[in-house]
Amino acid sequence: MRVLVTGGAGFIGSHIVHTLLERGVHVAVLDNFSSGHSENLPKGVLVYQVDVRDREAVFDVFESFRPTHVSHQAAQISVSRSVKDPYFDAETNVMGGLNVLDAAVKGGVKHFVFASTGGAIYGEVPEDRRAREEWPARPASPYAAAKASFEYYLSVYRQQFGLSYTALRYGNVYGPRQDPHGEAGVVAIFSQRLLRGEPVRVYAKERRGDEGGVRDYIYVKDVVAANMLALERAVPGVFNVGTGIGHSTVEVLDAVAAALGVTPVVEYSGIRPGDLQRSVLDPGKLEELGWQANVDFADGIAETALWFKNNQR
Ligand SMILES: NC(=O)c1ccc[n+]([C@@H]2O[C@H](COP(=O)([O-])OP(=O)(O)OC[C@H]3O[C@@H](n4cnc5c(N)ncnc54)[C@H](O)[C@@H]3O)[C@@H](O)[C@H]2O)c1
Repeated sequence: MRVLVTGGAGFIGSHIVHTLLERGVHVAVLDNFSSGHSENLPKGVLVYQVDVRDREAVFDVFESFRPTHVSHQAAQISVSRSVKDPYFDAETNVMGGLNVLDAAVKGGVKHFVFASTGGAIYGEVPEDRRAREEWPARPASPYAAAKASFEYYLSVYRQQFGLSYTALRYGNVYGPRQDPHGEAGVVAIFSQRLLRGEPVRVYAKERRGDEGGVRDYIYVKDVVAANMLALERAVPGVFNVGTGIGHSTVEVLDAVAAALGVTPVVEYSGIRPGDLQRSVLDPGKLEELGWQANVDFADGIAETALWFKNNQR
């Protein structure tokens, strides 16, 4: 296996890169380092500093590295940026993605794994229900619309070119190395702000002062395991990657504060445009293949918060 990891210098991508290398797989990273960092990468890994929007450069990478498998993690990941600038979001997440996809087809790639979103693609998930893969996509943001579009392209490329692919619809992924400077990744943001003694903001679920939106928080190691399964077994199809359990923003805050032994100062805000009230995934389809979320919420949050304590950026 020769795996090209786009976005490999980012949070999830870098965990995938580390695990692939541990397993003795040939790996190369394609990243423009817009939110990724070279410190995330193991020393000596082959890196192409390329923007997925640069079609010619993307094709050159495929010609040079000749991957058999692609792990496509590179993306503009902010929902609220996508609301403010849908064009930029689509340029990266649709057009950039198509550059990678076309190069993969031309290069005869055996299997393509795509980082999709379970957290945004289904729209609102009613109380006491968990979203299943067969539910229709109901994007509520340009980010989700772009991810859903790319899944359609994958399906079309399978029909037209026989491309084998897995779309992994991640819940809210958290863990060490998550970028605390962006606005995605509440666990990283809370960890860093509490460590600095700064106040934290809780965006409303329905009205200012409530417990905040409910999400399916999944630890990055469990997400990497799903990616390994998809790459190594070339499993075709679309799969949720979540725990099936929802936690509110305030529950996350309490868990981070408990892990760090601090008392947070909280500012309550209104609803953020594009945000959902509730998103919880049914991971049953992936579990049938032997995968399961192994990391408990409190343990995963504590590990993440302590990592930030020991690695303050
Ligand atoms: N973190 C989550 O909770 C979550 C949830 C659902 C889906 N996802 C998806 O998982 C993937 C990885 O997300 P992450 O949380 O690790 O984010 P991240 O920002 O840490 O990683 C994204 C990587 O892509 C790179 N990148 C961005 N634009 C690029 C471009 N134009 N050309 C080349 N590289 C580019 C960045 O530099 C970064 O290294 C993304 O596709 C994201 O949409 C993440």
